[in-house]
Order: sequence, then C-alpha cells, then structure tokens
Amino acid sequence: MTLLYTNGQAPVEARIDDLLARMTLEEKVGQMIQLAAVDDEYESYIERYHLGSYLHSLGDDVTRLQALNRQKSRLNIPLIFGIDAIHGHCFEDGSTVFPVQLAMACTWNTELVRQMGEITANEARAGNLHWTFSPVLCMGRDPRWGRTSETFGEDTLLVTEMAAALTEGYQSAEFPLAACAKHYAAYGEADGGRDSADAHVSERRMREVFLPAFERQARSGCKTFMAGYQALNGVPCSANTWLMNTVLREEWHYQGVVVTDWNNCGQMLTLQNAASSMKEAVELCLQASNDIFMSTPDVFTYTLELVREGKVTEARIDESVRRILKLKFDLGLFEDTKSPDRNSVLLDSQRWQTALQASQQSLTLVKNNGALPFDREAKKILLVGDNADNLLNQLGDWSFIPGAAAYEDKTIHRAETITLKAALQEMCEKTGLELQYLGADICGPHCETTQHSAIEQALQHCEQIIFCAGDALNQNGEFHDRADLNLPGNQSAVFKLLQQSGKPMVSILLASKPHCIEAVMEHSDAVIVAFNPGAKGGLALAQLLFGEINPSGRLPISFPRHIGQLPVYYNQAPGWHAPLSPHYSGGAEYIDIQHSPLLAFGEGMSYSKIVYGEAQLSNSSLQDGESVELSLRISNESSRAAVELVQLYCSLRIPGVTSPQKRLLKYQRASIAPHSSADVSFTLVPKDFEILDINLQKTIYAGSLVLMLGKSSRDQELQPIDLMLA
Ligand code: BGC
Repeated sequence: MTLLYTNGQAPVEARIDDLLARMTLEEKVGQMIQLAAVDDEYESYIERYHLGSYLHSLGDDVTRLQALNRQKSRLNIPLIFGIDAIHGHCFEDGSTVFPVQLAMACTWNTELVRQMGEITANEARAGNLHWTFSPVLCMGRDPRWGRTSETFGEDTLLVTEMAAALTEGYQSAEFPLAACAKHYAAYGEADGGRDSADAHVSERRMREVFLPAFERQARSGCKTFMAGYQALNGVPCSANTWLMNTVLREEWHYQGVVVTDWNNCGQMLTLQNAASSMKEAVELCLQASNDIFMSTPDVFTYTLELVREGKVTEARIDESVRRILKLKFDLGLFEDTKSPDRNSVLLDSQRWQTALQASQQSLTLVKNNGALPFDREAKKILLVGDNADNLLNQLGDWSFIPGAAAYEDKTIHRAETITLKAALQEMCEKTGLELQYLGADICGPHCETTQHSAIEQALQHCEQIIFCAGDALNQNGEFHDRADLNLPGNQSAVFKLLQQSGKPMVSILLASKPHCIEAVMEHSDAVIVAFNPGAKGGLALAQLLFGEINPSGRLPISFPRHIGQLPVYYNQAPGWHAPLSPHYSGGAEYIDIQHSPLLAFGEGMSYSKIVYGEAQLSNSSLQDGESVELSLRISNESSRAAVELVQLYCSLRIPGVTSPQKRLLKYQRASIAPHSSADVSFTLVPKDFEILDINLQKTIYAGSLVLMLGKSSRDQELQPIDLMLA
C-alpha cells in the first residue's frame, strides 16, 4: 500500500498530516536539529538524533549522506542541506564568484542581483544542496563591524530592494534554492561594531529602519529566516518572543522555517549569561518560534525531557515540524527530483558574463580630476599594492570556506580569477604599456616595514602610479571587527611616499568596507572604490581605467573621515546641539573635525558629464486616491553612453517625533546615449509616504514635505521640491 505522504499527487497539507501522525517524538525533534558535517562523528548524527538537516556538506559527501539517511531513516524523510552561498556558490571550486553583497549594492541594479541569485541557485542545486543562508539583510551602519561586506549597505530601501531581488533569484530559478533572510534582526547594530554584542534599538527604529526589509521577505515568501547571534534590547534574538512571535508570526503571518544561527541556544548559557542551564536555554528558545536549531545537538535531549515533563507541549513541536516538512515537500525533496548536471552548469559561459557585468557595475568612481580614463598611449605604469594581485583579498569573505579569515590556500578559484595585475599585464601585451609591480613585500595590508629605496627607485621610471590598497581577507568577517579604519599595514606610509613624487596617481580602494582615506582622496587624481569585486574584478578595474567601460556604481554606504565620527550614515535625525550663544562660533559639528562624511551615501560618478534639468511636479499637492508625477530631463553631454542613478529623497515632519533629515524614497538607473537626453519620472502615491506616527501606528503622512532629487545624498547635489499631502 502506498503511504499518503509518499504520494506526490496528494495535497501537501494532507501529506504533512499523514507523515506527522506516523512520527515518534524523537523523529519529530530530530527534524529540528541541524548539524555541521565537519567533525569525525557527523555520519552518526543521522541515527543518533534522527537528524533533519546538515550544513556545510559538499560534493560527494552530500549524496553519500542522503543515501545513508535513506537506509537509516525509518520513514525515509529526506535530509535538507544548507550552505552559505552568499555571493555565489563559492565553497565549490569552479563556481561563479560574484562581488560581495556590499559591492552588489553599488550597482543599485536589482535585475543583476536577481540573476546572481538564479545562477547561484542552479550551481548549488547542482551540488545537491537545497538551502542557502542568504540574503543578508543586516545594515552596514558601523564599518568597524567585521561583517560589513556582507551587507547591502546602510539604507533601508536599498537593502529591502536588493535582498528581495536576491531571494527572488534563488527561489524562482529553474532549480530553486530556499533563501534565508538573516540575521533577524538589527545584528549589525552591535555596540561598538563588536560582532554579536548586544544591540539596543528602540521599537521605533526597529520598525522604521531594521524590520522593513525582513517584513518584505516574510510577506513575499522567503522560505526561511535566521535569528541573529546578538541580543536585542537585552533579549537574545533566538529567545526574543517579541521579534520571533509577536512581529514575525502574528503581525506578518510568517509560515516559513526559522533557524537559529550557529549555537545561538547554547550561547545563551556560555556567552550571554541569559540562561542558567542548557535546558532553560532550550525552553526559552522553544517559547520563541524557532524551528531548526543550528549546531546545538543538546537541544535533542532537552526538548524530549521538556515535552515529557509537560513544560513544552507536543503541539508546539508539531508546529515546527510542520513548517520543516512543508519546506522539504515544497522543494520536492520527497520526490526523485533531478538536480542539474554540474558539468553542464559549469560549461555555461554566460554566468561569467553576468559576473563580469556585476564586477563592472559595482566599481564606484568617487574622484576624477580628468586623469581617467587613461588614454591609449603607451605609458610606464607603476602598480603598487598587494591587493592588486591577491586573490584572497579580492574575493573576500564567504568565497572559500565558512570562517574565511583562516583560509590561506590560494588554489580555489585561481583558474577563473583575474586580478588587476593580471589584467594590466595582458593589456600591456596589446598596447605597449610598460608595467612595474610592487606587491606584498613592499606594500600591503600585512606589510609593516616600508622599503623607501625600492619604492623611490621604481618611482624614477614611471609616468603613472596606480595605488591599490585595502584590507586583507583576515582583517574582516566574523570575529574580525576593527577599531581602526585607517589603511592597515604600511599602505598609508607608502601612499605618502608615492604622493611626494608628484607623479600622477590613481588610487583604488579594493577592500571589504569603507576606510578612512582622507589623504588618498585629497592627493590622488582619481579614486575608485572596489568592494571585494568578485573573480572578474581585476579585469573590470582595468577596463574602467582604460575607458572600456563607463563607471556607474554609487556608494551604498558612507565613508567616515575619522573613526571617531561613527556613525556617519546619511539618514540621521537632526538635533545636535546648535549654537544659541553669540559667544559660540561653531555649528552642529565636532570642534575638531568636520561632521560631513568623507564620501556620502549615493555618491559616485561616470566619465560622462550628466546635466540635470529642473524637476517638474504634475501637481504640488497629493490627495488621497491620486498620484503625482515627478519628472526630470537629464542630458549626457559626452560621447560615451552612461548610466545615471537618479535618487529621490524626502524630508518630512511627524508631529512629536524626530525624523531623519532625509530618507531615500525611490531611485532609477537611467541609460543615456551619447549627446542625448533621457526623461526620468517617478510616480508618487500617498502610500509612498507611509510613516509611523507618535504611537507607532502606520499612517499616511499629511502636511507639507520636501522632495529632493539629484545625484547623491549630499544636500548640494539635490534640488528641493515642495509637496503637500492633503
Ligand atoms: C553565521 C551565519 C552563517 C552560519 C552558518 C554563522 O556563524 O553568523 O551567517 O549562515 O554561521 O555558516
């Protein structure tokens, strides 16, 4: 007789009911355990815990474990395999390595991000994996935090749009991969940028800044969520019933699976002083609606005990198991679904075209006094800096293994990676360019002594300097927060020497995050920001330098001048004590440094001169049920096709509540042909101006507000337009 739950034609809910009714308590709890396939005993977990899920298993190991599970699992419940495919399915060699999320955010191109998701899904599914712990929805508002490169930057709207596109790409691919919205929530707000330290965030700020991106994921079908490591307002996320039950399940009606981060439950005891025994930690996490416990095997025994003692009901366990089984049924794991063939997936060269486009569009030109693009005449170039030829530092975190900082083997992704040095060398052969390179032993994030004579000698022969600086792989990522954001190693000292030569210099920040690069900005003729730009990043950089592409990236994160300025994100509320006394000559500023960021959110330029016309609003007031059109003509006064990112901000006043000086409302990437113009328009409806009133109720704003349209978040780049909401 065929069992109902094995019948692929039966409705999923009926299959779940049928299967659940056959499961023992142990089998149910086992579904809630996820363990890493790393230690000597991992195979035995299948039997020992009736295991539901593995993470970090790769290659043949996956098929072997799945086959073993078929023999051992009484009801033949398939295992689900999770992996951190964060910017590509990077843990397997040969896979496509895209730029990191922070770099992808520089593209502001959701379609490109969606394609990255699709390609990653097919590659991960070709490795028989089902679930990626991505996208990261954390906000990059404190660059001391080691995980800044994993974020889509500092703005709620941009993070929301980018993350939604990535999830869509994963989950709508030909071979869908379950996405995971993480880390729920406000994980990047850790005090002092110290990874996993407490975050203290008011409910208003949670709802205005940190929750919208998660709400979008919850409501648009992201299959899983991951709870943050940290405590939110003193309550660890995984035990935070406000976050996990009230908001996620009750308000947003989220039906998907929630996984804890790595041993969140155990860390309540060992790290956070938030429980006095493991059993208590498990009970607290079960009160919040976690479904899968990552890397806390003790949950198995304690949950069984808690249910037997009547402290946790079996119905509570059933709730989680239902969600987990639904995930497995939805992904087709109970059927003999075919995985894509890895060889044919890897043969598809289009994926590298997409990755190259991503690298190109991620590069952000933040200064150019006319030095770029280089002309085609043969030049003697001096390229300086380890990061111009360092695969690890170029690809960045989550490109090799989990906990990448410890990774040193440089063979993986070697075949597909093009560093800047390699790309320039190839160009030299074609153009007669001369290239001298000073690498890791002369200048780099880990180079401490400065060899003046070697540098001075090299300088004598060169006509153009390219200074490529940044951080190293092991200077960012989990457990690698920094208290200093100056260029590490001897890079600032070398820069000074190069600068003193008076020769033309183009600087590239190839790094995981913003750095304090005031001197570099001041003394370079042109500056390019390249957040870990992916395997094709070096090629894209060379193309940009020589004008084969027109830069279009815009910063998704502000750069401080000095670390003491943090936080420096653009959308802060005003209120800094301003001078009232006539004896005081300052402004709302520090007395020792300027408060404005060195580089602002939204900043970036192309090689084209783009001129903004005057914005027109179809009506100066917006009524309920109506819309207004904001239109603008932008002209490209150059002979190069360009992509311009038109940004629309607004500033409004909510009675009794402080509001940021501006917030990003909408944006558009507009392509403009050479010597022509393009019309850009935004349709605005009252819903665009939904706010939280003083009682945290969602309401449509009423009153006057200022729209600001322009090239970046800097006031001087924006034209103000008044609008009245009736
Ligand atoms: C990280 C997560 C990741 C998990 C599994 C944790 O340390 O915080 O982002 O998904 O490990 O690798």
